[in-house]
Amino acid sequence: MSDHLTCLVKGNLPLANLLWGKVYYKDIFAGILREEPGDRTSFEYDPTYLNTGNPVISYTMPIESMIHISQAGLHPFFDNLVAEGWLEHAQSRLLNKRHVSRFELLLAFGYDCAGAVSIADPEPARLTKQLLDMSDSKEMAVLTSRASLSGIQPKLAVVAREGKYYPATVGELSTHIAKFPSSGHADLTINEYLTSIAFKALLPDDDVVDLSIEAIEGITEPALITKRFDRTLEGRIHFEEFNQLLNRKSSSKYDGSHKEMSDFIRTVKDCLPIENYRLYARILAGLLLGNTDMHFKNFAMFHTPAGLRLTPSYDQVSAVLYQYKTIALAIGGASNMQIGNLKPKNLITMADEFALPRAAVSMLFKQLSRNKSDAKDAILSSSIGHNNIKDQLIKLMDARWNGTFALIGQTLSMKQ
Ligand SMILES: Nc1ncnc2c1ncn2[C@@H]1O[C@H](COP(=O)(O)OP(=O)(O)O)[C@@H](O)[C@H]1O
Ligand SMILES: [Mg+2]
Repeated sequence: MSDHLTCLVKGNLPLANLLWGKVYYKDIFAGILREEPGDRTSFEYDPTYLNTGNPVISYTMPIESMIHISQAGLHPFFDNLVAEGWLEHAQSRLLNKRHVSRFELLLAFGYDCAGAVSIADPEPARLTKQLLDMSDSKEMAVLTSRASLSGIQPKLAVVAREGKYYPATVGELSTHIAKFPSSGHADLTINEYLTSIAFKALLPDDDVVDLSIEAIEGITEPALITKRFDRTLEGRIHFEEFNQLLNRKSSSKYDGSHKEMSDFIRTVKDCLPIENYRLYARILAGLLLGNTDMHFKNFAMFHTPAGLRLTPSYDQVSAVLYQYKTIALAIGGASNMQIGNLKPKNLITMADEFALPRAAVSMLFKQLSRNKSDAKDAILSSSIGHNNIKDQLIKLMDARWNGTFALIGQTLSMKQ
């Protein structure tokens, strides 16, 4: 233990008020995360962790350096693990303070995070349910779960047991994520379900999260359940969202371009070129379905011994149905692009930015053209969802196809 830490543990002033936590990779102690004077924080790898050949906890924290300093607040890797939106608010109320920092949230709810890293508070904060809305069963479930899940939509970490789903309890690792409709968008979960099955039909060779609409024990509303791709019977699997891989804080998830993700894949050692093509195909299928919310936290890569690989696709929602018309990230050099203004040249410029061969792009458009009727069938034959939302989705897919995608072949051959 470093002198600095010894000093913290002994409670010497003035460092006694600074926060710190133990960081684990799977079940292995990996190092210490601590608040430093000023707004800085640091993560220091444990020498034993490094000496025994363990992997990096983040692509942005290479093991060549024992200590990683963040000049303002949490390092982006940790910042992106913290809850956002509905869950962040519920967790903040449990800590019963007027202002709760992201470090405090991570310490209190860092047991069950995205990926294989977890954070343990040596002196766990006392939680209180006084400020929770007792009439909201999903809000009450936050009291027992110790999960940090990002994203704005109301969600809970849940556990599957003998065909039923339960909110995760203290010390329990979740197996699934339950998402609920948000106050303004009652059919949000149905939208995500239908958009995801249509997406799967458009790209049948790609991976999309398994999802279904299910009841959660003790919770009044049904939820959209997705199987966690970062959990197996053996425990945690590591992945990072692109926001982490690109070293951005959670709040910067909209600041940038699709090209940056492609540049990352094409320059990082051991990333396969096919991942670059898969990424492009996912962006196209998402746009065809009106998903304007594809920001840097909605794409991610697994850490595997062979290198970084895309995780299954998740959070496919036709946000256009709620009038979110601006495409989240810059596309083909254009920022704040309205999806209705998307031209074939924007998609082709993006393919050039991704350095994709024209033949591959042309093949992809042919595949989408062939598969769009399967996507419509998947929507129409779904036992989940009413006719109104199904019709809306199909209409917008047709409009996008006719307005942009159908003209690609022509534009490509003109360019050639
Ligand atoms: N099936 C999954 N397995 C593991 N992690 C997931 C899965 N789905 C989402 N996540 C993680 O949870 C975060 C929030 O989920 P997401 O579906 O994007 O919610 P929101 O719609 O609120 O943005 C994602 O950014 C990702 O890190
Ligand atoms: Mg999301």
